Amino acid sequence: MSSITLKTPEDIAGMRIAGKLASEVLDYITPFVKVGVTTGELDRLCHEYMSNVQGTIPAPLNYCPPGYTPYPKAICTSVNDVICHGIPGDKVLKNGDVVNLDITVIKNGYHGDTSRMFFVGEASILARRLSEITYECMWLGIAKIKPGAYLGDIGFVIQQHAEKAGYSVVREFCGHGIGKVFHEEPQVLHYGRPGTLEKLQAGMIFTVEPMINAGRREIREMGDGWTIKTKDRSLSAQWEHTVLVTETGYEVLTLSAGSPAAPDFITASSAAA
Ligand code: MF3
Ligand code: CO
Ligand code: CO
Repeated sequence: MSSITLKTPEDIAGMRIAGKLASEVLDYITPFVKVGVTTGELDRLCHEYMSNVQGTIPAPLNYCPPGYTPYPKAICTSVNDVICHGIPGDKVLKNGDVVNLDITVIKNGYHGDTSRMFFVGEASILARRLSEITYECMWLGIAKIKPGAYLGDIGFVIQQHAEKAGYSVVREFCGHGIGKVFHEEPQVLHYGRPGTLEKLQAGMIFTVEPMINAGRREIREMGDGWTIKTKDRSLSAQWEHTVLVTETGYEVLTLSAGSPAAPDFITASSAAA
């Protein structure tokens, strides 16, 4: 028995708005991601933009899943070997850093969740390739989404693409259902086998957010209760979209004017809502 909620037309309308707003926070912050800025300043700017310009609420602030302490900031800033949930603070971004900014906003009770990678100054060839492969992983997974497909189909293509490149897939964190609740069923694993796990139905909304490590997949948790790093200190990358299962395929809800183009293998027809 599945407890994945199917969204109503009203829910879907709300999720389109929240998704676009989340992406627009990333558009807004892009020019500020430069050598010398602190992650705390990026957080402050995003929070101000959400509150004062968008009228959105940052979902991470005080978010407290079972076993966690309340998350203290409005966004997540995950630099270099930080896989996810990096807490903004005094850290100054330097030339060559790579950072994931993960934004979740709430608008009219609905959540939009999306993240992108940013290069600070000139990034290494490795960092660029890791980010590019991870972006392709996300889109390969998204391209599998249609009614009748399986969650395992998504995980499989992501794992294949990452491992073919010599990288590894983080197992401990996954995509998730999302709506009026930040994290709900299903879990969207970024590894797996085709034809396994939940069968997709029109009206489901979930995120695809692969975390890919340049080295080994093992993680370590920092003492702050949130920050997750690669155990071997290798670089890690992540991209995230929130996606609706439509009658014919999928609709990416977290797109805006500044979203990077989808890879060439995404055709207009496969992306048609
Ligand atoms: N935005 C993250 C996700 O994609 C969750 C961050 S939880 C937080 O699911 F509390 F750290 F913000
Ligand atoms: Co998410
Ligand atoms: Co997120």
